[in-house]
Amino acid sequence: MKPVLPHAQLDWDDQGRPYSRVFDDVYFSDQSGLDETRYVFIEQNRLAERFAALPEGGRLVIGETGFGTGLNFLCAWQVFEQHAAAGARLHFVSVEKYPLSPADLQRALALWPGLKVFADQLLAQYVAIHQGFQRLTLDNGRVTLTLLIGDALEQLPQLDARIDAWFLDGFAPAKNPDMWTAELFAELARLAAPGASISTFTSTGWVRRLLNAAGFKMKRIPGIGHKWEILRGEFLGWPQETPAPAQDKPWFARPAPLTGERQALVIGAGLAGCASAASLAARGWQVTLLERHDAIAQEASGNPQGVLYLKLSAHGTALSQMIVSGFGYTRRLLEHLQRGSDWDDCGVLQLAFDAKEAERQMQLTAAFAPDLLHLLDQPEAQAVAGIGLAHGGLFYPEGGWVHPPALCQWQTAHPNVQLHVHHDVLELRKVDGQWQAWDGERLLASAPVVVLAGAADIQRFPESAGLPLKRIRGQITRLAQTPQSRALGTVVCAEGYVAPARLGEHTLGASFDFKSDDLTPTTAEHLGNLAMLEEISHDLVARLAIDRLTPESLQGRAAFRCTSPDYLPIVGPLADAQSFAQAYAALSKDARQVPNVACPWLDGLYVNSGHGSRGLITAPLSGELLAAWLDNEPLPLPRSVAEACHPNRFALRRLIRGK
Ligand SMILES: Cc1cc2nc3c(=O)[nH]c(=O)nc-3n(C[C@H](O)[C@H](O)[C@H](O)COP(=O)(O)OP(=O)(O)OC[C@H]3O[C@@H](n4cnc5c(N)ncnc54)[C@H](O)[C@@H]3O)c2cc1C
Ligand SMILES: C[S@@+](CC[C@H](N)C(=O)[O-])C[C@H]1O[C@@H](n2cnc3c(N)ncnc32)[C@H](O)[C@@H]1O
Repeated sequence: MKPVLPHAQLDWDDQGRPYSRVFDDVYFSDQSGLDETRYVFIEQNRLAERFAALPEGGRLVIGETGFGTGLNFLCAWQVFEQHAAAGARLHFVSVEKYPLSPADLQRALALWPGLKVFADQLLAQYVAIHQGFQRLTLDNGRVTLTLLIGDALEQLPQLDARIDAWFLDGFAPAKNPDMWTAELFAELARLAAPGASISTFTSTGWVRRLLNAAGFKMKRIPGIGHKWEILRGEFLGWPQETPAPAQDKPWFARPAPLTGERQALVIGAGLAGCASAASLAARGWQVTLLERHDAIAQEASGNPQGVLYLKLSAHGTALSQMIVSGFGYTRRLLEHLQRGSDWDDCGVLQLAFDAKEAERQMQLTAAFAPDLLHLLDQPEAQAVAGIGLAHGGLFYPEGGWVHPPALCQWQTAHPNVQLHVHHDVLELRKVDGQWQAWDGERLLASAPVVVLAGAADIQRFPESAGLPLKRIRGQITRLAQTPQSRALGTVVCAEGYVAPARLGEHTLGASFDFKSDDLTPTTAEHLGNLAMLEEISHDLVARLAIDRLTPESLQGRAAFRCTSPDYLPIVGPLADAQSFAQAYAALSKDARQVPNVACPWLDGLYVNSGHGSRGLITAPLSGELLAAWLDNEPLPLPRSVAEACHPNRFALRRLIRGK
């Protein structure tokens, strides 16, 4: 288990500038942080020129070691804003071991009134920044910031990106040699685009030599302020004498980017489809969203309240990494919605209802930072929840509930998204490079790209029929708020969950039925939900005056979750199943084989499904993952997690296990 890293520990000088206690160094130069940043990073990477040269739909990717206060990022954003065409995009990836707390970030950025418009947007989205990959979507999607929270040497090897310009800013080499090692520079080289530029404030000889050895051609140039000299350079290519980095396995390699019109059909307007549409629209794609019902979010995504509940593992599994990154991403999107009616960050309390759960919770507190989760004893838990409880538990202060249709609505409000309701796609055909969506004899729409986001119903198409998706029926119960139940201050979970009221009603959930195909709500399942409420709190049962309700009067709704065997969503490009099995048949004899055969992609066909019982956490970030595969962008998740979510994983396992 890795130690939990704290926030940056800062001291502030008499002019309000931050100073790192751990590294005994300044975040930016005493003279003028702004001038130094502009000279060392913006000018040496020729950003103004390069931004101005970006075509419509073009993008520049900047990578940085040491995000710190975000000053370099904000300066780059400002120059991008000044010089880039309206349809161009900036992608900034930065690694940070000790992120500033939101309060410290605000205090540090207040030093630069000229950057306030940018700083305010960053601060508004600087929420739920926890370990691993954290993506922030800024300026309506024109600017993407991917923060890799953790040690640079652990995080960068997980990054899949092509960096056009590197900023090296990890405190002075003498004070923090870990940020200036040959191993780290090899990662910068692995990630560098051909001809990538690089600059840093230091001119230390051994730094220059190590960078040269990694394939960068570095030059000393005059410095600024009290820096006599600094370094800038360019990536010449992987040095001959060093072994080249391993290639991606062909079945997980990026499909060749599509050329031509950026138009996509998204089939299904639940959380997965709406997220896919939003991420593509933000990148300039024209999206046609096809939904068979008369409105969005009518099936699983139609519950009145869903819980932002993080079922984590202390062992850093792919699923757990996905959950921490997905939770952060969803939480930041929600900042755009209306608190109280669309969502509420009232916190989520998971009760330690038996010894096994209590043990699991102890392990989680050792693996995650207290601002993500911490233990509450029984009196503390009662105080937070506002109701009587038999147990303490694990509290997620940034969690809460969401009205999923509101999130879907917000995601589809982009002018590039055209929603077509009453459009039930029964068949896909590929004609002249276009995917056509047919409803019997009616051609509904066509585009070069299709995203299948119809939960388990994507199995109706032969192209995706082999994906192992299972439907699990679930039912929630709606309970009217009472004067006594108003006290409920947070979501409380045991086996089931209950949320503070939204518009006068609490949502109580949720049943699991692996067999039933019928979506008519049943009294038996309402009673099952009430039994779960008993486990949560007898006091709340009394406050809700449950004994005065007749079983027949109980109201609710049922829908299908759609789950994959490994509980990870299925997100990415689809391959032709038969050709895949032929291309990689050698794996059935020897799983270590990597046949040199390109993956037989079904060009333009993508999937976003399998979100199980946590779509609120996984679906929005999956939209970003999908868009990153499609647009050849930096992935918003570690490579290993993106592969763990890849549609090809099942075909691969089948080959290897010979099934
Ligand atoms: C009872 C219950 C409680 C839940 N509680 C939570 C919770 O507390 N927290 C949480 O995070 N998650 C929860 N979930 C899970 C969450 O709701 C799902 O993970 C999420 O809604 C899945 O979104 P989706 O877009 O993949 O599927 P859906 O919301 O089912 O959307 C699929 C859409 O595709 C459309 N469609 C399908 N095929 C076609 C076609 N061929 N043509 C046109 N349209 C098509 C459907 O009509 C539908 O609108 C719960 C689920 C249930 C059932
Ligand atoms: C000089 S500051 C960066 C200043 C920053 N670019 C800005 O614009 O404010 C250096 C940063 O590197 C971070 N850092 C130091 N060692 C690190 C490591 N091993 N991995 C990742 N980040 C590290 C520090 O926490 C600090 O925030």
